[in-house]
Amino acid sequence: MRLPLVAALFIAAMVTGCSVKQQHTNNTYSPLTVETPVRPAGQSDVLNLVTPKLDTVRVGFIGLGMRGPGAVYRFTNIPGVSVKALCDLYPERVESCQKYLTAAGMPRAAAYSGSEDAWKQLCERNDIDLVYIATDWVHHVPMMLYAMEQGKHVACEVPAAMNMEDIWAVVNMAEKTRLHCMMLENCVYDFFELTTLNMAQHGVFGDITHVEGAYIHCLEPFWDQYEGDWRMKYNKAHRGDVYATHGFGPACQLLDIHRGDKLNYLTSMDSDPISIPNFIRNDSARRSRGEDPTGFRNGEHTTTMIRTERGRTILIEHNVASPRPYSRMYQVTGTKGFANKYPYQGYAIEASQIDPSVVKNHEDLSGHSYVPNDVKEALMKQYKHPIHRELEEKAKQVGGHGGMDFIMDYRLVYCLRNGLPLDMDVYDLAEWCCLAPLTALSIENHSAPVAIPDFTRGGWNKIKGFRHAFAE
Ligand SMILES: NC(=O)c1ccc[n+]([C@@H]2O[C@H](COP(=O)([O-])OP(=O)(O)OC[C@H]3O[C@@H](n4cnc5c(N)ncnc54)[C@H](O)[C@@H]3O)[C@@H](O)[C@H]2O)c1
Repeated sequence: MRLPLVAALFIAAMVTGCSVKQQHTNNTYSPLTVETPVRPAGQSDVLNLVTPKLDTVRVGFIGLGMRGPGAVYRFTNIPGVSVKALCDLYPERVESCQKYLTAAGMPRAAAYSGSEDAWKQLCERNDIDLVYIATDWVHHVPMMLYAMEQGKHVACEVPAAMNMEDIWAVVNMAEKTRLHCMMLENCVYDFFELTTLNMAQHGVFGDITHVEGAYIHCLEPFWDQYEGDWRMKYNKAHRGDVYATHGFGPACQLLDIHRGDKLNYLTSMDSDPISIPNFIRNDSARRSRGEDPTGFRNGEHTTTMIRTERGRTILIEHNVASPRPYSRMYQVTGTKGFANKYPYQGYAIEASQIDPSVVKNHEDLSGHSYVPNDVKEALMKQYKHPIHRELEEKAKQVGGHGGMDFIMDYRLVYCLRNGLPLDMDVYDLAEWCCLAPLTALSIENHSAPVAIPDFTRGGWNKIKGFRHAFAE
């Protein structure tokens, strides 16, 4: 029985285009593995990377569609920033962003547009420290690589890379150039998430054993808004969790991934796509363009389970098709308590974990039900993250998904200006992005377990616990 299964997995894995080998240890079952390229000679890891302090962060933006302009606006509200250049395929999108600079009393930025590769000239400028990328998914990697080659730090929208070859190219380039390469995952800065992370780091939930996250967001009203229909085309062509980072990033931070624990393997399953093919079939514009709803590959609902080296589990879900309320799930299960964000935001915590000077009648609490609202508020006040203590008011005023986008950009600039490690490094980028190719590999192989590479190539246990860096 064993040989045909192995042969089938091998053949199916080859069909996916990934380099896969089977491992056998003492006749027990082993996951599919993808290649971990040898670290090029002369390179070392960029864990806790620090670079010289920048008095002013000089930035160039590429990609000014739905997402990019908000970033330009937010940067005009951050101290120590100079916006030097703006780039999009379309000159009117560049021009429309100049108004944010003018309104902030900043000089107009150099404009690049009109050709597919005008962005290269932006990267080549010698007065830019940071290239900020908000284009479609397939342009991210060439832009990140070129910007780093030109000596620039890089910040790139989610998901920054979609396949293993690209992910390793980005990791290698960051290690070679020793420049910052951060994925712009905003959801790790949301108010409930960061407060809960702080509680977790103070041991309020006991030992964390299981975390859940998701991207559940029906994109039907948005499909037609993406430039050149890039998002629909990508989903049409690819199975797997192609947009995992909003749920997975906060989960990985809670579990100190590559800072004391590591992702070991995943298994993934999807349901057949129905809603999006129906949408394509029923949309008159798409029908008149002759768009073919058959052969759509991305599943209606994709579910992935991951096990870590320290024996914890993560559940991640993706559904951009079904008519469901928005949810990033966000659940934390510990030995002493529980947190949940969607649909009900609350905590269930054992009385022993509560400070009686902060919460009255704390002895009535148990892990069996959510704490009452006043207790939740007291806890959230007690464990308000130092980042929120400093930035909440300003973040809510500037905005961007309720303020978390501003906090993300502010922290990026703050760390660059203070010569601190960024909150998210290139290994976070790699780990959070690898779900796209590795879930596809699992799904296309009957949900076989797939080993997740250690992108630090041996450094995952050097840093003990994830913490945000602050200037002395
Ligand atoms: N973090 C979040 O909450 C969040 C929210 C929305 C989108 N996103 C991400 O942001 C990115 C952009 O999404 P969007 O919704 O703005 O897409 P979009 O299609 O609206 O915008 C993409 C822009 O990139 C430009 N572009 C494409 N190729 C280019 C090139 N060669 N040179 C210069 N410009 C080029 C397009 O002209 C377009 O204006 C995606 O990665 C998406 O996943 C993140």
